[in-house]
Formats: sequence, structure tokens, C-alpha cells
Amino acid sequence: MTILDGKAAAADIKAEIAKEVARRTEQGLKRPHLAAILVGHDGGSETYVASKVKACGECGFDSTLIRLESTDDAPLSQDELMARVQELNDNPDIDGFIVQLPLPRHIDEQAVIEAIRPDKDVDGFHPVNVGRQSIGLPCFHSATPAGIVELLRRNGITTKGKRVVIVGRSNIVGKPLAAMLMQKGDMGDATVTVCHSATPNLVDVTRQADILVAAMGRPGFITADMVSDGVTVVDVGTTRVPDATRKSGFRLCGDVDFAAVSPKCEAITPVPGGVGPMTIVSLMMNTLEAARRHDANR
Ligand code: GUN
Repeated sequence: MTILDGKAAAADIKAEIAKEVARRTEQGLKRPHLAAILVGHDGGSETYVASKVKACGECGFDSTLIRLESTDDAPLSQDELMARVQELNDNPDIDGFIVQLPLPRHIDEQAVIEAIRPDKDVDGFHPVNVGRQSIGLPCFHSATPAGIVELLRRNGITTKGKRVVIVGRSNIVGKPLAAMLMQKGDMGDATVTVCHSATPNLVDVTRQADILVAAMGRPGFITADMVSDGVTVVDVGTTRVPDATRKSGFRLCGDVDFAAVSPKCEAITPVPGGVGPMTIVSLMMNTLEAARRHDANR
């Protein structure tokens, strides 16, 4: 059984990106610049954004973190958030930016996503990027699916002709990953099934998987009886579960019961240290690509 070490692969990729950034600066090209908007103080979002800012430093990028307060007494208005998005759209020094999700419930999240200029949408969430991806055109691929595909590729796990079962149909993971893996060509050509809360006899479907992707955000949901011997399992879950033995008071729990499932696997991603670090480097790769595209217009 192989552990698919996302942390190690991410470190290799960050070193490759840093080399490319050094080459760029020698040629007089600017450092890629990623900005992130973080609204409020959601614990998970704080951690993810801090990791993204740290990764920018490791890659030699400039980064800007824009923190916006929103409380019950003083909620951030939609207009204020849209104005901040517009500023980043118009700022020629910013190559790409993200608005960390989830946003407070009173904010129209989709309107915010659609306000981001597609050529700066390094999350790949704008409908232009989603649409281009679904028909195989050059675009910013959403970070988690791109990270999963890269982790498989770097571990010599091919997808051509494989039966891939994805559990979870989110716009961020399930849908774009299905589109990527069913595309013609390298790291595509898979037969993809997407399961969700209305799928009957889920076990019968997951047992057919050569590659099983668990992305529904339900800790420990995938149990040993749900997989066949020799499966490759990709665990996208990162639920915070209270744990009094940890300094932080919680631990990250995947969607897969790792102890029970891993003995049946050919390969499996750990949580943490699997998909998470790969998601962050995908964002870095998109930001480098955005900077390359913007070079011509500077
Ligand atoms: N929240 C969870 N994952 C993501 C992500 O990849 N991008 C953004 N912007 N928010 C997220």
C-alpha cells in the first residue's frame, strides 16, 4: 500500500515554482502577486488563507491579505465586498486573487464569484473558467481537482480506462474533477460516476471503483465494506473534530475511515498531508500562469 504523500509532492512543486520565479526576476519580469480576501474569522478559512500566504513566500510570490470584518452587529455589505473585488480587478500589480469561501450567509456568494475578472480568477470558480474547463479549453482549473490529478500523476497512477467514482457533487470538487477526468487525453479518459445524497445503493457503486474520491465532508463515512481490494482512495475531507489531546483543541478528519480502509488499498491519501497541500500548490501554479499571461500586457 502506497501513501500518496501530498506534502512531499507539494514541496517539490513549490521548489520548481520558486526556480521559475527566480528565472523570471533575472529576466526583469515581475514576481507573481496573489491577493486573498478573507471575510470574518471562520477558523478553517483563517488556517487555509494563512497557508496560502505562507506558500506565496515559499514560491517567491508577492502576496496581499485583505481582511474584512463582518459581525452580526456590523455585517459587511455586498456593495463593500464587490467594491474590494473591483479594486483587485483594476489593480495591474495583482495577477490573481481569491475570495475565501464560505462567505457569511447574507452575502450572495455567486454574485461575488461572477464579479471576479476571469483572467484573475486563480480559483477557477468563475463560470467562464468552469465552462472552458468542461469543454477542455485552456483555463484556470479549480485548485482541489487539479491538485488531485497532479498527485496521482506524480505517483504514476494513470486514469485512462479506469472506473473513477466520486462521492460528492460540489462545485469546488466533485463536478470539476469529474469534468477533468472524463476529458480526452493525459490524466483523463476515465469512466466517471458522481454519487451524491440521492444515489441509491451507494455501496454497490463505490465497490466498482478503481479510483474512489471521497469529497462529501462526512468524517469517516467511507468504510472498508465500501471498497474493493486494490482500490486507490483519494480523501478530500477536512472536517475539524474536537480533540482535547491537541493544543488546537481539534484534529482534521477525512471522509475515509483510514485505519479500516487503507489495508485494502493499492494507494491512499492521508488526512492531513494528502490533498490539502496539493490544493494550495495548484493555486500557486495558477497564479504563476496568470502572471505569465499578464506579462504580454505590461
Ligand atoms: N474554501 C474551501 N476551499 C476553497 C478554495 O479552494 N478556494 C476558496 N476561495 N475558498 C475555499
